Amino acid sequence: MIEIVSRDPAQTSLVAAAVARLVRPRDIIVLAGPMGAGKTAFARGFAAALGVGPEDDVTSPTFTLVHEYRSGRIPVHHADLYRLATLGEVADLGLRERADLGDVVIIEWGDVATDVLGGHLRIDLEPDGDDDDMRVITVSVEGHSWDARWEKLRSALSAVAP
Ligand SMILES: Nc1ncnc2c1ncn2[C@@H]1O[C@H](COP(=O)(O)OP(=O)(O)O)[C@@H](O)[C@H]1O
Ligand SMILES: [Mg+2]
Repeated sequence: MIEIVSRDPAQTSLVAAAVARLVRPRDIIVLAGPMGAGKTAFARGFAAALGVGPEDDVTSPTFTLVHEYRSGRIPVHHADLYRLATLGEVADLGLRERADLGDVVIIEWGDVATDVLGGHLRIDLEPDGDDDDMRVITVSVEGHSWDARWEKLRSALSAVAP
């Protein structure tokens, strides 16, 4: 587990970019944290760092459930599970299958569905009581797909969030 602090949205973008630089086809990134924590902000920084251009508008896919951005170095599927009621509905989105095509999947409120997602990198964003712009960001992994990248991720994150 890696814990860092972001002091403003720009720093959260840098954190997301550091993750994006190490991401590989078939990775799933789960974003957790309350409304307004910065999950969409993270996804935007992540997509931008993968080269997703302005032709792909990175917004919260709350109503459409999944957005696809194909203008970057790896196709990105951006999901938001907030409105889904059952794990069956989540399974119908085929998020694991989308990743297994060789794409990357990033999922807001993905923590509700970790049972059907398989191995993934998890990013928890938690607002800090005192400062409106402060977020405690905790990075953890389920499975082994990040084992060989973990120390690189740790140093990349400490470089952007010392
Ligand atoms: N350190 C920070 N990291 C991310 N967002 C921040 C931070 N500080 C303030 N914000 C603001 O918090 C809001 C996060 O919104 P959003 O990314 O849509 O949250 P979520 O998708 O988790 O509901 C944005 O208005 C953003 O500017
Ligand atoms: Mg959002």
